[in-house]
This record gives sequence, C-alpha cells and structure tokens, in this order.
Amino acid sequence: MNRLLAILCAALALALHSSSAAVPTNELVFADFEGDTWGEWTATGNAFGDGPARGALPKQQAVSGFLGRGLLNTYVGGDDSTGTLTSAEFTIKLPYMNFLIGGGNKPGTASINLVIDGEVKYSATGTEDEKLSWHSWQLFPVVGKKARLQIVDSAKGGWGHLNVDQITFSQRPRIIPYFNDAVTRAMASVNDATPRASSDVTRPTYHFTPPANWMNDPNGPIFYGGYYHLYYQHNPFGDAWGHMHWGHARSRDLVFWKYMPIALWPSKEKGEDHVFSGCATTNSRGQLLAFYTSIGQGKSATEYAEQWVALGDADGNTFTKHPGNPILSEKLHGDTKVWDWRDPFVFRDGARTFLVCGGNLNHGKGGQAVVLLYEANDDGLTAWKYRGVLFTHPDAEVKNIECPNFFKLGDRWVLIISPHRRVEYFTGRFDADGGKFLADQRGLMDHSGDYYAPNCMEDPQGRRVLWGWIKGFKGGRGWNGSFTLPRILTMAADGHLRQEPVAQLTQLRGQAHNLQDVKLNNATNHLDAPRGDTLELSVEFEAGDAKQFGLMLRCSDAGAPGVLVSFDGKELEVAGAKSKLSLDGGKLRLRVFLDRSVLEVYANERACFSRVIYPGERDLGLAVFARDGTATVRSLEAWPMKPIIK
Ligand code: FRU
Repeated sequence: MNRLLAILCAALALALHSSSAAVPTNELVFADFEGDTWGEWTATGNAFGDGPARGALPKQQAVSGFLGRGLLNTYVGGDDSTGTLTSAEFTIKLPYMNFLIGGGNKPGTASINLVIDGEVKYSATGTEDEKLSWHSWQLFPVVGKKARLQIVDSAKGGWGHLNVDQITFSQRPRIIPYFNDAVTRAMASVNDATPRASSDVTRPTYHFTPPANWMNDPNGPIFYGGYYHLYYQHNPFGDAWGHMHWGHARSRDLVFWKYMPIALWPSKEKGEDHVFSGCATTNSRGQLLAFYTSIGQGKSATEYAEQWVALGDADGNTFTKHPGNPILSEKLHGDTKVWDWRDPFVFRDGARTFLVCGGNLNHGKGGQAVVLLYEANDDGLTAWKYRGVLFTHPDAEVKNIECPNFFKLGDRWVLIISPHRRVEYFTGRFDADGGKFLADQRGLMDHSGDYYAPNCMEDPQGRRVLWGWIKGFKGGRGWNGSFTLPRILTMAADGHLRQEPVAQLTQLRGQAHNLQDVKLNNATNHLDAPRGDTLELSVEFEAGDAKQFGLMLRCSDAGAPGVLVSFDGKELEVAGAKSKLSLDGGKLRLRVFLDRSVLEVYANERACFSRVIYPGERDLGLAVFARDGTATVRSLEAWPMKPIIK
C-alpha cells in the first residue's frame, strides 16, 4: 500500500481510538458462527463439515479466543482436509471489517479473502496459534462496492487449517493498522498482552524489557538519525520463544527509551519463518542496513541458514528486504559445511569492511566451534567473499559459537562469544590479511548463567556500548526477557575488559541515602531507608577478619536474609552465582542495581553479575552484615530509581 495512505490511515485509526471507549459501537455483525449450519454461506470440499464448530475438533490443540459457542474451524478431519466457504454477496457500507482469526500461517492457501469484482482485494491468515485474535481491514477505499467473503483452505500438513469468528463491519478498527499487515498483526498481539505485562510486579522498570511477550538477544544496536536504536529478538505472539521478529526501541540518551513498532518480521511470502539475530550498520551511501540470519519455513536452523540484509528508512523504523537475498549463502563455503551458521556482525578495519558469523564445523560434536570471517567486495555491502575461519574455540567441550562480536578497543581486538554457556571474551591481535584472530587473554563477560548473547555498538563519542540478554524469568507473566544496563567497555592495561554502566544512568536516581564508617562485628545492621525493589547502591567495604560480609537485599525485618551479595575472602557471591575476586587494597567496591526480578552487580570494576531473582514479594528491607568477625562499611549510598520507558 502507498506509504502516505498507510500513515494517514494509522493517524485516523489512532484518532478514532482515542476519542471513544474500547468496545466499538455501531458495529454490524456479519457472521458470528453461532448457528448449526452454514446458512447463506456455500461450502465446497471436506474442510468445513456441516456447520460451525464448538471449539477444538478431535485431535486439535485447545482453541481459544472465539466469542460465544461457535466458530469457523477448518480442522474438520485434520489438517489435510480442503475446501472453500463463500458468503452471499453484500455491499460494503462501513470503513472497517474486524474479525477474529487463528490457525495456520499460510498466505493464499489457508486464508480469509475479501473478493471484489472476482479479485482478492484483502486477505489474512493465522499466526500458527490456535488462539484467535483480532484482525482489522481498512475498507474505506472500497466502501459502496459489492463483495463476497471467501475462506479458502487448500493447505495440507502442519497448520493447514484456519479458525475464524465474529466477522463484523465497523466504524473503527479493533486494532491499530501499521504500515504492513504482518506488523499490524504482531503489534496487535503485543498490545493485547501489554496490560498484563505492565501490571506484573516482577517486571523490571529501569532495565529494558519488551512492552509485552518474549524477548531474547539484543540485535543491531546503532546510533542513527539522532537516536540510539535498540532492536531485539522478539516473539510478538507469546511470552515463550518463537516467531522471531525484531522489536525496536529508541533513545536520545541511552537512559530513556520509547517503544517503536516492530521493525523486521518473517516474510512468509518469501519463505521465511524467523528473523534471527544480527547487526545494523551503514554503507558508504549512509544507508542503514540490518544484517540478520534468515531461517526458512520448515528448516532446522542447525542444518540450514542464510544471511539476509534489509534496508532501513531514515528513521530506522521500517526495513525493506534486499531483492538479492540471501546476501551470504552456504555456497560461499565451497566444500566446507557450516552448522548453526548465524548471527552476522559487521566490523571495520581501516577502509576494509568485514563480517563474522558463528557456527561449528562438525555438527556440534565439540572442538570445532568457530567464528567465520567474510569481507565485503562492494561499498553497498551486498557482495561478500569468504575469508575462512577467524577463530576456533580452544576448549574441546564447546560445541558451537553464537552471536560473535568482533571489534577493536584501544590497541587490541576483542571477540565476544556466546558458546551455550557463560559468555566469554578473548582479546588479542587481528591479522586482517591472514584472516586470523590471535588471542592471548580471555575472561567472562558476566559471571552469571542468566546472561547471554550480548551485542554492542560504537557511539558518536567513540564509546563501545554493550547490552546483554538476561534470561531465566518465570513463564506465563505476559512478558519474558530483560537487558542489562547499557555498559561501556574499556581495555585495561592487562589486556582484560572493564565494564561499567553508562554514566548518564545517574539521571535515574532519586533522593540519596548515605551511611559512613559503620564497623560491623558479627552483626547485621538493617537500614531504615531506602525501601523498595528498584534501587541503586554504591558501597565500599573494608575487609576485617569476618568470614563473610556484604549486603542483604529484600530481606525481612524479622531476619529472613532475602538475596545475598557477599564476600568470603575468596569469592564474591551474588544471589547464588559465585566468582573468585581479589580485593583492592582490602576494599570491596560494589555497584548494585536491584530492579524487581533483576539484580545486576559490578564488583571492583572487574566482575559483573546479572541475575534473575524472585525473593519474598513483600520483603523490601536492606541490611549490611559481617559474620564471624569484623568488616567496615566505609561508605554506602543508595537511591530509588526511576523507570526508563517514556
Ligand atoms: C542466541 C540465539 C542466536 C539466534 C537467536 C534466535 O540466543 O540462539 O544464535 O540467532 O538466539 O532467537
């Protein structure tokens, strides 16, 4: 559809939405499928049976979301049955048609069509979900025309069926139309889930989370057109992994974020099933490009993947897939078979542009987990040559590498990898001509197993900004997944990475509470304030002879310890995750970010921990303690924190 028209429609839709209550008035029900027969509809084939269904049919998963007792369900006899159901002719009198739809995602072969003058003018399909959800068509270009509705099911095999209910004409849409039907559907689903996600008291408020439903890896962070853009792996249709899209948010300052419409979605008509992880960059013409792994319909991501590119608009909001996709295909590797080939990341070395992908060379048997290197042949970044294996993981038990990030920091090169266990970095030298990374230092990006698949960017000030995915939240809450705070990476003189939250985050702090020079002797001191579950704490302890000392978060006044951040002379423990740590001249400096179910800790500017926590719902106490001996709190500052979504 013409873009301008789409924007006008969206604006009109918004205006209509805001001026009235959520339940549309002036809605004409065309079909509610409450009767026992098809009435004035004509059925052919065997997919429809004698009349509407009353929920799920034999061997079908649970069907929900329909209104009343009945719905149209083409699972009669299973997925393989086929047929059509056609309505009597009618005149389109109102500007919107709303209906509930679920079932398979098979454009053209399992769809509801609006036919005018013998041509299909509007069409919709399901989202591989038995739950029916609202779909709206803007009909004002065809108001006054004669039309028929037709439900077609010629699809066989998995998800070869459709569920439809409550077809109505209306003055207004049930959902807000976006620039594309696929995005409209996805956003409607996210909007539906948002009230539930927003009211969940465990959802973080100053760590980035999706508006609702599932999020995993950060994708394509970039500063473009005056904004920081953060995209993310997103399932708009549920709070578990699936249907991978790229969600989108933007910020002027890395502190406050605004949710934007979904930026990338699987192009079902091009055979795509998932838009997996990737990066964003600009080409020599200043155009925004998103590189990502495309997973085809019915394909296993381990066996077969392609790397695709999509061209962004000036706002980084919508992307058009390049007609030349796949821009990198398996053919580049000649006789070498790469398994789990995915997660492109573009980097530059002088005038040369490279790209890395992760994978393995032996079908995940271990010892051949690799990062592969490619070099651009053209300025537009649409032609690439394979340069070979950049890096092989030194540990034989590592089976595969995901989400490689490779970039220069200070005078060294850094490789960050997600090897299906805690995320690691390596630092060393890049031999661009030989196509090899020669690493001589390694470490952990985060000491928690709840942290994975980070992604990073260079910002206009030359800072390397990185976000990681915090995972392991409880399911069934209408949302799932958070990011760490944006961290700035720097290279220490010893060749190891240092990470700290971006300085601007101090804008989120409320009123400070201070404590100084408190000597603890086998004691627990409860602090009066601040209380709450969205806090930042900056603490300096000086070790004495205590066997253990540290902080108790969300502890009860009655003495239940809540969540511990503690040091035992050798190891720092953060909510059960442990790491060796050496004190700095007897000092332990902690920056602690407590954000409901997320706890992020930075210790001695060295070790990071990102944890998912579910302490007692009502316990909001804060305490410092030393067990079996002494320790001193040299200073403690604590702030309540403000939310980041604008
Ligand atoms: C890492 C990962 C990536 C993949 C994406 C799919 O968490 O498995 O390798 O691209 O998630 O959502």
